[in-house]
Amino acid sequence: MNVAVIGTGYVGLVTGVVLSEIGHNVICIDIDEKKVEMMKQGKSPIYEPGLEEMLVRNISKKRLSFTTKHKEAFEKSEIVFIAVGTPQSESGAADLKFIKQAAKDIAQHVVYDTVVVVKSTVPVGTNDIVENIIQEELKAPVRVEVVSNPEFLREGHAIHDTFHGDRIVIGSDVKKPGDKIEALFTPLNLPIVRTNRRSAEMIKYAANAFLAVKISYINQIANLCEKLDADVNAVAEGIGMDNRIGRAFLSAGLGYGGSCFPKDTEALAFLARENNINLNIVDAAIKANSEQHEIFIQKVIDKLGGNVEAKTFAILGLAFKPNTDDLREAPALKIIEKLLSLGANVKVYDPIVQHLDGFQPGELEHCQSIEECMDNVDATLLVTEWDEFIENDWKELKKYPNQPLLFDGRNILSIDKLVKFGWQVEGIGQAQKRQSVKVI
Ligand code: UGA
Repeated sequence: MNVAVIGTGYVGLVTGVVLSEIGHNVICIDIDEKKVEMMKQGKSPIYEPGLEEMLVRNISKKRLSFTTKHKEAFEKSEIVFIAVGTPQSESGAADLKFIKQAAKDIAQHVVYDTVVVVKSTVPVGTNDIVENIIQEELKAPVRVEVVSNPEFLREGHAIHDTFHGDRIVIGSDVKKPGDKIEALFTPLNLPIVRTNRRSAEMIKYAANAFLAVKISYINQIANLCEKLDADVNAVAEGIGMDNRIGRAFLSAGLGYGGSCFPKDTEALAFLARENNINLNIVDAAIKANSEQHEIFIQKVIDKLGGNVEAKTFAILGLAFKPNTDDLREAPALKIIEKLLSLGANVKVYDPIVQHLDGFQPGELEHCQSIEECMDNVDATLLVTEWDEFIENDWKELKKYPNQPLLFDGRNILSIDKLVKFGWQVEGIGQAQKRQSVKVI
């Protein structure tokens, strides 16, 4: 089939590349000329394992192309995906300006009967808005129908998730356009959930908010474990083996970040408030998440005797999670800001992120290796669970810092092993081990 994709962020670009990989002809549109030029040259503007190879392969097979011109894209397409951003507005609600603009562009330029697919995460009822805009502004005498198809891929696993997703949700109030989108995805051979548009829109928000609640829940349980001498890793295993609960998204840490959970929980909470529905379980998850990194910093301060002024810290990991260069809502940024505000010196290292905006020149030291970062520091804070940190030789690394004090904000290192190497380690919710840590 001939497909156009508006927006080449994570969702749009991965969708376009994967659809071309399974045999469709895809043209991706973005207003950013530089980005489009880059993609035409076979370069992915985002770091995502496996994406660039697939992009290059499909460009060379002439199934994938890029443009800044809507007209050029829509002239050839029978299906148009909207995959533009829905940023958070002041009120917490999702800002629909890019979605509305995409609907207008479609109305201006389509020349065939077209199925418009809304892939962006949008509040319930947005597909209706898109349809109304298109119907009001449509230039050509053609039929345009709107289908909701929310995305469930994770950054850093985007290609894998698209080929091995748990389900594809297709929300259509009319059968035929829904059938067409089902046929488009048939080569992926994944379970399909067919529903109406509003339910599809709600599935996306309800799924993300549920996962966010799960994370905040285990983080609060972790905080309690720490006080009561229990180990949250064991608790997560123990409850996760119950099929009704499941182990996924029960890893305690520094709280969720990224471009999705923080924004989508706020948008769902707003939607509930607007409709006078009590959804305070989501409000509580948001609050718990904003507290989680503060609790961590307080622990660091306490361990260092109540004052971190002029102390030097190594921050390992900046991205909000491994295998991405995405810094949006990354806990590392909040931790760095707080330490700087308390007069500490901060050294940072991330395997991929080489630059941090928003800090004064010289305010922090951006290092090129884990060893350089840990050299002469008073404490090391592991913030993102990159493989490089997990697989490193911590016996060897012990020779770099002033003192072997490590805070594992992701519970990914073996405390028993590190303690044998002479490290003093603090995890999250691991009170048993904590007793072996001497106060400095
Ligand atoms: C999330 C969802 O997992 C995807 O299904 C969804 O499509 C996507 O949002 C979206 O709406 O576009 P993503 O934000 O890429 O994907 O990342 P996740 O892997 O879900 O992680 C989100 C955050 O939760 C990260 O900060 C991660 O460190 C944290 N997390 C995750 C935990 O703290 N503990 C866990 O057990 C799992």
